[in-house]
Amino acid sequence: MDEPIGKMEAHNKVPRGFLVLLFGLIAFGVYYIAAYTPGISGWSQYKVLSKEMEADKAKAAAGAAKMTGNPYERDEKAVAEGQVIYAGKCAECHGKDLKGADGPSLVGPLKFSEQDPGKYESIAKGRPGGMPPFETELGRDRIWKVLAYVDSVRE
Ligand code: HEC
Repeated sequence: MDEPIGKMEAHNKVPRGFLVLLFGLIAFGVYYIAAYTPGISGWSQYKVLSKEMEADKAKAAAGAAKMTGNPYERDEKAVAEGQVIYAGKCAECHGKDLKGADGPSLVGPLKFSEQDPGKYESIAKGRPGGMPPFETELGRDRIWKVLAYVDSVRE
């Protein structure tokens, strides 16, 4: 037969699978453009970045929160150093055996806090009933050491 070429082509339907793929790609393209166009979806690289930074910050904060525990807990060498500090600075008020003298006992239940950060604060900042602050005199490291000693006796 001598049908024109254009008409012959019209007999061949586009395969269904190809159509599905084509419309799928178009739909995906539209979705993609909409999703990543700030004017349409509100998406922006800045928002993605700030979200990532917030996640990092939260992680860092969680790490810092863990660090408020005593780094010298059960560290024998630090406990021994803490014992020397205790004998020199604390025993006169809290007693050689920590059971109290002018100051309260440190082996029984504590009034202010029995958590590491609270006990650290008692020693660093002092307490109103006559507990002097030791922050400048001892510094962070030695406060944790003396506390490691106190806790080693408490347990
Ligand atoms: C001048 C006496 C004195 C000295 C020295 C002293 N303390 Fe105290 N401490 C006290 C008194 C008094 C209190 C109770 C404060 C209050 O009740 O407000 C106290 C409270 C505390 C507390 C809180 C107790 C609680 O019940 O929560 C801790 C912990 C503590 N002292 C540890 C130490 C350590 C460790 C040292 C040595 C670095 C030390 N103290 C040196 C007098 C002293």
